[in-house]
Amino acid sequence: MQDGADWEKWPTYDAAELGFRDHWYPTVWAHQVGAKPVPVTVCGEKVVLVRDGDTVHGLHDRCPHRGVPLSLGRRQFPGTISCPYHGWTYDLTDGKLCAVITDGPDSPISGRVSVATYPVVERMGLLFVWIGTLAEGEEPPPVERDIPAELTDNAFVLGGRTEVRDGNWRFAAENGFDEGHAKYLHNTALWRLFKVMPTWNVTRIVEQDGWLVRVQDEVHWEAEFPGVGSFTNKRWWKRMPLPDRPGRNGDANPVIAGLDLPGFVSIRLPGILRVAYPQFVHYEWYVPVDADHVRYVQLMVRFETGAKALAFKAKYLAAIRWLFHGQFTAQDAWMVDVMDSPPERLYRPDLSLTAWRRHVEQAGLVLQPTAPRRGH
Ligand code: FES
Ligand code: FE2
Repeated sequence: MQDGADWEKWPTYDAAELGFRDHWYPTVWAHQVGAKPVPVTVCGEKVVLVRDGDTVHGLHDRCPHRGVPLSLGRRQFPGTISCPYHGWTYDLTDGKLCAVITDGPDSPISGRVSVATYPVVERMGLLFVWIGTLAEGEEPPPVERDIPAELTDNAFVLGGRTEVRDGNWRFAAENGFDEGHAKYLHNTALWRLFKVMPTWNVTRIVEQDGWLVRVQDEVHWEAEFPGVGSFTNKRWWKRMPLPDRPGRNGDANPVIAGLDLPGFVSIRLPGILRVAYPQFVHYEWYVPVDADHVRYVQLMVRFETGAKALAFKAKYLAAIRWLFHGQFTAQDAWMVDVMDSPPERLYRPDLSLTAWRRHVEQAGLVLQPTAPRRGH
C-alpha cells in the first residue's frame, strides 16, 4: 500500500484542477458584502455577490454585451445591477436583462438576455455559493450536505479567516492531510508552544461517516537515526499526549467525544479538513479558485455557549487567530506555494495522500471543466 503511488493512477483527481461541480463552497463573510458588489472566483467561475437587503445574490461576473465585470457596476435601481459600460441592467433574482438604459424603454434586446445566477446561502457567517448544474426550476441540495454534520446539529462559537492563497486546491488539501509535515515543518511554529507533536507515527487511514481519518497506531516522540543523530519534538514544557482518541479523553467536550473519532485529523469531500482537539475543532476548506489559487477558509470551533463561548472568542482574537490561523498555517501556505509536483517519489507516511486521492477518484464526482465557462 505504501508504494501505491508507483503504480496507481488518479486520472480524475489529476484533471480536477478546478475541483468538482455540484457542491456548495464557502467564500467571503456575509458582512464583507455591503453596498458594494464583491467579486469572487469559485472553481474557475467568476461570480459577483450583490447584497439586496438581507439577501445576497450571486451572478456571473461578466456582462454578456462586451464582457465587462458586473462587479464594477452600479446599484442604481432597486433589485438590479447595471453594467458600468452601457448600462445594461439585470434583475438580481433571475439575472434577466430588464432595462437597457442606452437603448430606450423599448429596447428590443430587453428581456432576451440574461446572466447566469448562482444560489447563495449564509451559514456560520460565511456565504456559500453553489457551483453546479441545475435544471430549470430545480433547487440545489441543502448546503448542510456539504458542511460537517456536527456544525449543523450543535450550538458553537467560532473564530475564522477566509483568504485566497497561492497554489492549487489539491496541493492545499494534500498538505492538510499530509502526516509528515505536521511533525517537521511545524516544528518551528509558535503554536507548538501549546500543542506538541510526535516525531513519527505508525499510521493507517480508515473511513468513517464519509471522512478519511488518520489513525496513529504508534506515536514516537523522539528517534535516533543511526550515523546521523537524534531528533525530538519534546520541549521543556509539559509534554502533552496527542489526543488521538478524542472520544476517550476524560476531559473532552461532549460533542467532540460524541464524534468518536479514531484519529486526530480527518478529511472529506469536497475538500474539508478537521483537526479535533479535546476541547475545540479546527476546520479548513480548500475551495478551488483557479489553477494556481485556493480559497483557504479556517474555522476554529468550540461547542460552547454563554460565558465559555465569549471567553473562547476573546482567546481566538487575542492569540489563536495569530498563532494558529496566522503563523502556523502560513507555513503550510509557504510549502503549497513553493512545491513543484509532479513528478514525485512518495514515502511511507504519504499513504494519507494516496488514500485521499483514491477516495476522490472513486467518489464519482463531476469534474469542473478547465475551459472557462460562459454565462448565457
Ligand atoms: Fe456591459 Fe456594454 S459591456 S453594457
Ligand atoms: Fe500544516
